[in-house]
This record gives sequence, C-alpha cells and structure tokens, in this order.
Amino acid sequence: MRNLLVTGGAGFIGSNFVAYMLEKYADYHLIVYDKLTYAGRLENLDRVAAHPHYHFVRGDICDAALVRDTIRTFHIDTIVNFAAETHVDRSIFDPGAFIETDVRGTYVLLEAARDFKLERYHQISTDEVYGHIPAGQRSRETDPMLPRSPYAASKAGAEHLVYAYHITYGVPTTVTRGSNNIGPFQYPEKAVSLFATNAIDDQPLPIYGDGLQVRDYQYVLDHCEAIDVVLHRGHIGEVYNVGTEIETRNIDMAHKLLDILGKPYTLLQYVTDRAGHDRRYALDCSKLRALGWVSQHTFDAALEQTVRWYVDNPQWWRPLKSGEYLDYYRRQYIERL
Ligand code: NAD
Ligand code: TYD
Repeated sequence: MRNLLVTGGAGFIGSNFVAYMLEKYADYHLIVYDKLTYAGRLENLDRVAAHPHYHFVRGDICDAALVRDTIRTFHIDTIVNFAAETHVDRSIFDPGAFIETDVRGTYVLLEAARDFKLERYHQISTDEVYGHIPAGQRSRETDPMLPRSPYAASKAGAEHLVYAYHITYGVPTTVTRGSNNIGPFQYPEKAVSLFATNAIDDQPLPIYGDGLQVRDYQYVLDHCEAIDVVLHRGHIGEVYNVGTEIETRNIDMAHKLLDILGKPYTLLQYVTDRAGHDRRYALDCSKLRALGWVSQHTFDAALEQTVRWYVDNPQWWRPLKSGEYLDYYRRQYIERL
C-alpha cells in the first residue's frame, strides 16, 4: 500500500482521514478524488494542500473514464471510498442522488478495482445498514442488513456489491461500518454540527420527535484510526463495526452541548419527527477490538472537543450557512420550527 485514492476526501471524515494518514505515513501518497458537492469543501484540505504527497482531482465516482485515468496517472494500489450522499433527511427528499452516487458510484469503483487488480478496495459504510436495533441488543457484523431510510438502503446496496465483487471476482475488499461521527469540518446539517452552530448563534435546536432516539457518537479521528487498522491488519473479505459502544439519547446530547456552551435549555425545540426515524443503533465492536483498536475518546470528551472547534472556527462554518444551505434549511425546518 503506497498510493491511496481517497474518494470523497474533501468531505468531513475523508478530509480528517487524509490529514491523519499524511501525518502518520511518510511514504504514502494520498490522492483525493471528489466531486465537490455541497458537502465537499477544498478548504477542509487547506492544512494538507502544500504537502508533497497530497494531490487533488475533481471528479465524480460515477465517471468511469476519469476514475480509470486517475488510477493510471497516480499508480493507485488502494481505493478508500468515502464518496457518498450522506444525510438521511436529504435522502427522504431526494433518494435518486443517493442511489446514483452511493450504489452506482460504488459499482464504478469496484469495476476499476477489479480491472486494475488493486491491492485493496475499502468501503466506508455505516451502522445504519442494520436498521433500528431494539433495546438490549447490539449489531454484529454477521447480522442481517435491514436498512429503513433511502440513505441506509443505498449504503447497504453498495455493501452488497462490495461483497459480490469479492466473492465473484476475488477483489480484495474490506468494509467498516461506523457509528455517527462528530468533530471538525462536519457540514452543519448533521445533528451535532447543526446544534453547535445554532446554539452559538442563539438559534433553536430542532429535536425530532421525543428526542429519546439513541445514537453512538464517536470522535472522527477514532474512526480514521479504525480505518487505518483495518487497512493494515483487517482480513480480506471482512466487515468491521466501528463505534464507542456508548449509548446517548439525542436529548442528553443536546443538553450536554448547551451546558458546554453555557446556553439555556429554552433553545431546545421539539419538532415533527423524521419519517421512518430509526430509534436506536448499537454496535458490538469486539471484532475490531480483536485487531488491537480501542476508541480513544469518551462521548463527553468527543463532544467537548467538537463544540470547542465550532466555537473557535466560525470562519469555516459561517459562510456555509448561506445559499444552498438556507434553501435546504427552510425546506427541512420551516414548517417544523
Ligand atoms: P460528507 O457528506 O461530509 O462528504 C461526502 C464527500 O463525498 C463530499 O466531499 C462530496 O463532495 C463527495 N461526493 C459526493 N458525491 C460524490 C460523487 N458522486 N463523486 C465523488 N465525490 C462525491 O460525508 P461524511 O460524513 O464525511 O461521510 C463519509 C463516508 O462515511 C460516507 O460514505 C458515509 O456514508 C460514511 N459514514 C458517515 C458517518 C457520519 O457520521 N458522518 C458515519 C458512518 C459512515
Ligand atoms: P443525524 O446527525 O442526521 O445522523 P443519523 O440520523 O444519520 O444518525 O441525526 C442524529 C440524530 O439526531 C438522529 O436521531 C436524528 C436527530 N436529529 C434531530 O433530532 N434534529 C435534527 O435537526 C437533526 C439533523 C437530527
């Protein structure tokens, strides 16, 4: 492994992963391939822009010719696929974009991995493929995928293709299924980045339904480290869950976030629930721990660090809250707030 194509590397997790890998591996080359949708920002990569082992290609993962050309040009031996449409609420408005990028895009990358006989194809997947998990249970990698949102279904569809390409064509694949990530550079549409930036500006925090839904919020760099571990020590053809195994209710997350900022709970506003809202995700991460990975951040530490970053970096998120974002925000929240 030497030349990694990081698709979706200008997004939240991908950009953190690129910075992490460049710092850790002096001899690796990281080639970001990204369409720069609303969620992809070149400024997320400013801190690595001058690094001699970093390159950027603007492109769509559905563009097979450009994907192949990029693999040839940069002698790519490994693909790490972060590229995706990623927000559940947007998938409820517009499932088509999710099927196109998350499913068809994955197919295009797998075809390339197969033709070029790459050393590894790694798929970034999500705990959402398991669907809602009843209290007392935890998802293991062998459990069935029962996705319930268009986003989760697209990610599950992509994973089925990854498995099929491994079995049918022998493509050396690995998959990680991560829980909710929080940290720097998360587009302010996801719960924690939205709540932090709204609270800083004394704007309401929209709590869907009763706010008792359970998520496992992990720090983004823990997830990046897990991907690194699976790339280097994971077994070909295998899937690994990645999370803290700490369960947090959304309302408790919101209270803690307001406490960190010293803002009043009156900012909380209960709004109409998301259609098909999964009430609980909960992973069993023992398979990954057996490879030697441990999550470094508790939920409280992860939230504190994340909120502080948004306080310290308004120049990053404030300009995002305009144009396309405001259109989306109005569409998503106007009748709810
Ligand atoms: P993000 O929305 O911040 O970034 C997605 C990136 O993909 C953007 O840079 C975007 O420009 C790019 N992209 C979108 N469509 C593309 C296309 N057709 N071709 C090339 N690039 C394209 O997403 P994120 O939160 O960083 O998530 C990254 C990956 O991790 C996704 O696959 C997501 O499903 C998965 N994941 C996310 C979380 C989370 O909590 N955010 C948790 C588990 C798994
Ligand atoms: P989100 O960050 O969209 O991640 P996901 O739905 O993929 O887990 O949402 C996290 C949780 O927060 C989820 O239960 C939905 C809830 N939520 C709200 O209550 N209000 C909001 O405005 C958003 C965006 C999410």
